[in-house]
Order: sequence, then C-alpha cells, then structure tokens
Amino acid sequence: MTILEIIEKKKNKKILTKEEINFWIEGMLKGEIADYQVSSLLMAIVLNGMEKEEIFYLTDAMINSGDKIDLSAIDGTKVDKHSTGGVGDKVTLILAPLLASFGLKVAKMSGRGLGHTGGTVDKLESIPGYRVELSREEFVNQVNKVGVSVISQSGNLVPADKKLYALRDVTGTVDSIPLIASSIMSKKIASGADLIFIDVKVGNGALMKTIDSARELAHTMIEIGNQYKKKTICILTNMEEPLGFAIGNSLEVKESMNALKGMGPEDVMELIIKTAGLIVSSVEEIELEEAEQQCFKKFNTGAAYEKFEEMVKAQGGDLEKLEISNRIFSVRSAKAGYITHIDALGLGEIARKIGAGRLQKEDKIHYQVGLLLNHKVGDFIEVNEELLKVYLDDIDVKVNDILDCFTIEDEPIEKAPLIYEIIK
Ligand code: URA
Repeated sequence: MTILEIIEKKKNKKILTKEEINFWIEGMLKGEIADYQVSSLLMAIVLNGMEKEEIFYLTDAMINSGDKIDLSAIDGTKVDKHSTGGVGDKVTLILAPLLASFGLKVAKMSGRGLGHTGGTVDKLESIPGYRVELSREEFVNQVNKVGVSVISQSGNLVPADKKLYALRDVTGTVDSIPLIASSIMSKKIASGADLIFIDVKVGNGALMKTIDSARELAHTMIEIGNQYKKKTICILTNMEEPLGFAIGNSLEVKESMNALKGMGPEDVMELIIKTAGLIVSSVEEIELEEAEQQCFKKFNTGAAYEKFEEMVKAQGGDLEKLEISNRIFSVRSAKAGYITHIDALGLGEIARKIGAGRLQKEDKIHYQVGLLLNHKVGDFIEVNEELLKVYLDDIDVKVNDILDCFTIEDEPIEKAPLIYEIIK
C-alpha cells in the first residue's frame, strides 16, 4: 500500500478501507507521508466526499492517534458541549456551571481562540489567577467535588486533528462535512463524556453557510456519536450577528456572570435555556418544558451563579480582580433607522485587532479590551445614538471600520430566529 494509491483511489471516487485510512493517519503522524500528499488527499475528500463507513474509520483513527480521557472515576452522567464557533459565544461559561447545579458532571476541555472567534480558555484566563491547566487528578477530583471544571485541551488529545486542521486551514480544505464531523467528534469522544451536545452555527460568520449543510453535518455527527454509544444532540443556531452584547474576554465573563443570575441578553438566555433544557430533559427523562422551568429556578435561586463562583475559586481565580479597560469611547450612529444587519465577522476582526484575540498562536491577549454593543438587529436607532462602546488598551481602532459593520435602513426587517432546529 502507498499513499499515492490511496490518493488516486479517492480521486477516482472509490471508497477507502479501514486499513488505508489507518495507513494515512499513522504515516502522517510518523512523518512518513509528506504534507503535500496529505493535502492532496484532503482536497480529493473535499471534492468527492466520503461514505459513512469511511467517516467512521477516519474518526476512529483520529481518536486512536492520542490520549483518551478516562472519566470513569467521576460519578454520574458526564456531559460535554461544543460550538462550531462564533463571535461573542460565551455559552460554555454559563452552561457548564448551570448543568453542574443540576448535579450533572461537566469535565470540559476547551480551546483557545484563533482569528475572529474567541476561545473559552482565553475568556477564563481573563479572571486573574484562574488555572486552565490542571493535572488529570486535579481535574477529576474537582469534577467529583464541585461538579464542573473547564480546562484547556490536553496537548496530546487527537494529535491527528491538530495536524490535519493546520493543513486544512492553509489548503482550502476546511469546508467538508466528513472532515468537520470527524474532527469535532474525534475530540469529543476522546474527551470521554456520556452525552455530547453540539451547537452548529449557521450563517455568514459561520462555517456552515446554509441550514441544509448544517443539518447534514448534524446528522453525520449524531451517527458517529451513535457508533460510540454516546447520546448526541445538535442544535442549529443563527450566527448572523454576535451572540449577546459583549465581545472580548473580561467583558464576556461579566456578561456571563449576569446571565448566571438570570439577567443576560435575551438571545444568550434563550440559547442557554434551550440547550440546558434539552440536556437536562434527556438525562433526567423529563419533559423539555419542565427542564426549562428548572433552569429559571437555578438562576433565580442563585444556584447556577454559586456553581460558577465555586468553579473559579477551585481553579485559583479571583472574580474581584476581573478588570475591564477604563479607556472607553462611544461609537454613535451616523443616521437614524432600523438595524437590519450586524457583521459578526467584521466586529470579531476589530475586537481581535484591538487585542481581544490573536492572529498568530503566540500573540498576547489584552484581556480587558473589547466591544460592548447597545443594540441588536431589529432595533431602531436615532442619529447620534450610541451604537456601542469600545474598550481599548494601547491599540487604536478606526470608527468607520466599526460603522461599516452595521447596516441601517429605513424599513424594519423580519428577524431570523435564533434557534433553527434541534436534531437528535
Ligand atoms: N471545528 C473543529 O473542531 N473542526 C473542524 O473541522 C471545524 C470546526
């Protein structure tokens, strides 16, 4: 068997065997297959797709490429969630403690942000003292004791994905359902949870541009989950505007803290209640409506917020020291009208440029900078009314670049729903 034969086979739309896929993944990690050959095979997969069995073999080979996290020392149902990435997406910060307040176990490994999307780990690191790196033992002990821990992804979790993702990023081979599904699910399965919840973002600022493609991705991931006897639930949600009002690390932590007290932005609360409701109703085998009602109670009684405080404290963080920049300026609307579109990608880029994110892996983040919107799509705004506040450190921003992210028109539009579909 040679890699050239495998590339030729996929080029000719043939189905790859388990042995061929293992040969590719193992050879790639040993450095025996050149990057240009892997890239060529990836492009053949993007163009010709993969059958279900090939996707299962690929996911399996990726899982077996590195560490598998054993969560068997944690009692109770272990829950994990993943989002395909968005601007202002702070769901994990709110959802993880909320689920723990129900007695579910959340042993969550998260990533850092790259480009215009922020990462949960960076957001948590904006809390002074918060340790995102715990030993395996500390992690398991904390989840058993507190019910929740969010840490940074282990260095050797699915190394095949790290290699493939880096190549895909620079060879135009990211947007392939078999490759995305195997990339996400291999990491989730290797992380060891019993129930996997995935938020598939749809829209201009997201990887999936249409509901049809998002639906196909969701079905593929559910089938992979079923193969491993993992209950997998997907939600398709709108990513046409940022989630909530805050973009930037400590600003998002502050917004999440309000949400944990039941006082977050409407869209954030809607998504959290639906997500937690679906997970709790599935685990506890109760009606969705009842589970959603119980979520409100967890906010109102302070139980969800207390879990968050407990988690932060257990990981060394000090919420009293959370800082937001005091170099603030207002961006005001140049005209009156209805906001018909907010460019999430554009605002994410601006936040990244002022220091909230990084362009290169080694870039330093300025945790206290970011954007705080005053308005969402559908709102009416007067001329000279404040559109948003910018929190700056030492990097400036052009006001016109921000204004260009907002479309303001005379007529209102019908706003698309936040949650398109639930697939399980
Ligand atoms: N997120 C992942 O983890 N992998 C992909 O391929 C796309 C999004």
